[in-house]
Amino acid sequence: MKVFVTGGAGYIGSHTILELLKLEYDVVAVDNFVNSKPEAIKRVKELAGCDFSFYEMNVCDDWQLDELFTKHKIDCVIHFAGLKAVGESVTKPLEYYENNLNSTMVLCETMKKHNVKNIIFSSSATVYSTENEMPLTERSRIGGCTNPYGWTKFMCEQILRDTANANEGWSVALLRYFNPIGAHESGKIGEDPQNIPNNIMPYIAQVAVGRLPYLSVFGDDYDTPDGTGVRDYIHVVDLARGHVAAIEYLNSHTGANIFNLGTGKGTSVLELVSAFEDATGVEISRKIAPRRPGDIAVCYTSTENTKKELDWETEKTVFQACADTWKWQKNNPHGYDSISRSHEDIRINSKSSS
Ligand code: UD1
Repeated sequence: MKVFVTGGAGYIGSHTILELLKLEYDVVAVDNFVNSKPEAIKRVKELAGCDFSFYEMNVCDDWQLDELFTKHKIDCVIHFAGLKAVGESVTKPLEYYENNLNSTMVLCETMKKHNVKNIIFSSSATVYSTENEMPLTERSRIGGCTNPYGWTKFMCEQILRDTANANEGWSVALLRYFNPIGAHESGKIGEDPQNIPNNIMPYIAQVAVGRLPYLSVFGDDYDTPDGTGVRDYIHVVDLARGHVAAIEYLNSHTGANIFNLGTGKGTSVLELVSAFEDATGVEISRKIAPRRPGDIAVCYTSTENTKKELDWETEKTVFQACADTWKWQKNNPHGYDSISRSHEDIRINSKSSS
């Protein structure tokens, strides 16, 4: 079975390709490296011990995409490619709408032309309204997004739902990710933000490796057991396995189907920091800061639907995710650029000899 992966060099894309190759799926991937590095593709090939077709390409380029679909007989698409920085989306909304919506529409058009009917879309728990009760289920209310990035996910979901309704035999999986963290256990591939990280785990990892001085804990007065925000942190390898489960599901179902990919367990900011310190022996300096605008107190999912429908559930713990993140960050202090920057001094904030 041939799977076409867009955004294959990204954080979740690279881990998913590795899982697919391990299971002997045939993979064709593209990426335009706007927010990723060719080195990620090289390392996935090394880890898998096999090759796969890769093209440097923008998914919005309908001509090149058509050529690719003519050359390869695709069975299923996984669409990861997209701009994803929440803050940047507020200052550059048109770039976000243009890129994220256009790529999805060009992809659907090309799929239609080549009679490819199965697609998995990389969505986010951010599409849920902040008014819902916890845990979130796939039937919880959506909308009221707080930033253009969130709206692009919301709108792409709608485009895919409408396309599935209008075209006989189409099968769509909208995967709403909770908070992906961790790295492959080898420490060879992982999350590599190009600027100062927005998300907490890469931020902690960069404090640990000495690239950032301390973590700002955004609010300690939420209505949670320790006052800090609670999220559902899912190991990226579990998340990658969730995509494989979705491919199998699409083979026997049609229409648009929604799946929340998370662990079902909430972890607070302070619990995450403690888990990282325990897993690595590295102390994380932190300061309590004001709440971040747009943040909510608690967000986690029910896992009932994914267990039943996908026969999938997470296997790895937050502790393991912290250990794997550290392996990646310690071995690659500047991410995939580390080889070219190995002369630079990296000071690890170690409290032990680890
Ligand atoms: C964020 C995005 C969401 C996106 C998701 C991708 C916002 C409002 N939401 O979710 O749209 O889909 O990332 O993974 O940006 N925190 C700190 N200090 C930091 C960073 C974060 O205390 O330096 C806290 C936050 O307040 C929150 C938790 O850590 O309680 C998780 O934050 P983050 O990793 O940014 O994820 P989300 O906000 O849940």
